Amino acid sequence: MRRIETNGYSLEVGSLLDSSFSELLSTKYATSKKIIIVDENTHEHCLSYLITNFEALSESEIVVLTPGEDSKQMSLTYNIWEALTEYGVTRYDLIINLGGGVITDMGGFIASCYKRGCDFINIPTSLLAMVDASIGGKTGINLGHFKNQIGVFSNPVALYIDRLFLDTLPEEEMLSGFAEMLKHGLISDEALFHDVCAQIDEPDELSYELLVRCIEVKNEVVKKDPLEDGHRKILNFGHTVGHAIEGHYMNTHPLSHGHAVAIGMVLEAYVSVKMVGLSQESYDLIEKSILSKYPIPKFSNEDIQLMIEMMQNDKKNRAGKIKCCLLPKIGSCTYDHTVTSEMFLETLMHFKNKQVNLN
Ligand SMILES: NC(=O)c1ccc[n+]([C@@H]2O[C@H](COP(=O)([O-])OP(=O)(O)OC[C@H]3O[C@@H](n4cnc5c(N)ncnc54)[C@H](O)[C@@H]3O)[C@@H](O)[C@H]2O)c1
Repeated sequence: MRRIETNGYSLEVGSLLDSSFSELLSTKYATSKKIIIVDENTHEHCLSYLITNFEALSESEIVVLTPGEDSKQMSLTYNIWEALTEYGVTRYDLIINLGGGVITDMGGFIASCYKRGCDFINIPTSLLAMVDASIGGKTGINLGHFKNQIGVFSNPVALYIDRLFLDTLPEEEMLSGFAEMLKHGLISDEALFHDVCAQIDEPDELSYELLVRCIEVKNEVVKKDPLEDGHRKILNFGHTVGHAIEGHYMNTHPLSHGHAVAIGMVLEAYVSVKMVGLSQESYDLIEKSILSKYPIPKFSNEDIQLMIEMMQNDKKNRAGKIKCCLLPKIGSCTYDHTVTSEMFLETLMHFKNKQVNLN
């Protein structure tokens, strides 16, 4: 069991059975109601493991959501707050988020606002949530097409990362998680980038060692800057374009979050060559490593305009200017660059001949 130092909560990586989870349930939360939030997939594949192995959870209330980004919205959040009220949940009770990033983001937000804050535990079950979404205290929901527009910073009381849950994760969701692992390498550790690239073709062999290296990148960044006043912004590399792509295609050809971010990283690396001197050789390596795994969907000139409009509404912008993270070199990232709409237009036009029909 690997215990990682955080901003004040337990982060344990290894088998849940060897973790402090059982003791926490039988001490601090011995008399608390337990509510487990899952989606239909984690209900099917992950919940029974928890209920069977942890007697204290046998009487839990289970809240089940439809899988996917569409669930991360206010009307369902409202319904869950109503359900918690019906169950008589108090602020001394415990919410357990068992799922991917949608469940940890939304469940964390639900717990943090309910009765001005109720304790929650994250047990991420997707690779993306293990290496990224469940760490760092960002919780929230979408507002229409705008990603994570409503939310609060709030940490769980504990975060348990058990690789076992990945056994049932579909291949494309593994790929989505690998995209954020690639990002961790690109922004802070060139060797990690290469090691993750090499691992993508053998997802079943993903080791705790590589997981821990990625978790530590995220954890170290958020420890230094928990509220994203500065340094933490580097975690947004690939996300200015990625969120626009993910939002734009949400209703027509939904892409996983990681897939959209992977494409975003290539396009933002292209901008990095023009603006912060990323070498052409490094750029070529990034493009080749990423686009072979994460193809770009077909887009029209109208799509380009709409995606640029979404970037103009990005949360990271200041004074009407699009702010973006860029890579001076692989393993190093700088933030708060103002990138013009014209630059993004030129970049998206450049990629028109690299699109693939995903249908
Ligand atoms: N808070 C943050 O810092 C942060 C960072 C990155 C991403 N995010 C958010 O995370 C979300 C994406 O997370 P995600 O990719 O995990 O999405 P997700 O929660 O939708 O999970 C992806 C899919 O995998 C399924 N799944 C999850 N675990 C499974 C398992 N063990 N077995 C079988 N199926 C399983 C889910 O049901 C879903 O269909 C986005 O909403 C994004 O905005 C948040």
